[in-house]
Amino acid sequence: MNLDAIAAIATEYPERQSAILPALRLAQEEHGGWLPPEAIREVADALDLAPAQVEAVASFYDMLHLAPVGKHMVEVCTNLSCALVGAQQVLQAFEEQLGVAPGETSEDGRFTLRAIECAGGCGRAVVVVVDERYREPVRPEDVPGIVEELKRGD
Ligand code: FES
Repeated sequence: MNLDAIAAIATEYPERQSAILPALRLAQEEHGGWLPPEAIREVADALDLAPAQVEAVASFYDMLHLAPVGKHMVEVCTNLSCALVGAQQVLQAFEEQLGVAPGETSEDGRFTLRAIECAGGCGRAVVVVVDERYREPVRPEDVPGIVEELKRGD
């Protein structure tokens, strides 16, 4: 892992603890989208903090992953505004297209599907976040095209 980059991040904050989150984001990028235990230890060592402090942050934030994820992350907001205009139907369409249930990764490792809390785009529900980019609004009939686009891009 790029320990120099983490050290550089740490200089941008008055407290080392404040650098944990950006350091973990960097570590996750470098570890293929998730944080194995050695990444937690490396970040802790680089910031001169206890691994438990780093792990507490890693386990709190939804965008940090402590288990392997697919090449593509598909997240469907199922909170109230999205639920009212068909989030469950959109989620079900992704389940059918990808062949996985929410929280699962496809056997080929290409897709992870998740149901998430409010993504902050309530005015354009249903919000779907694909590889950290918002698609909005998404209707069930849009789902095959999104999945096809992702498969074509691989
Ligand atoms: S409830 Fe879905 S974006 Fe807010």
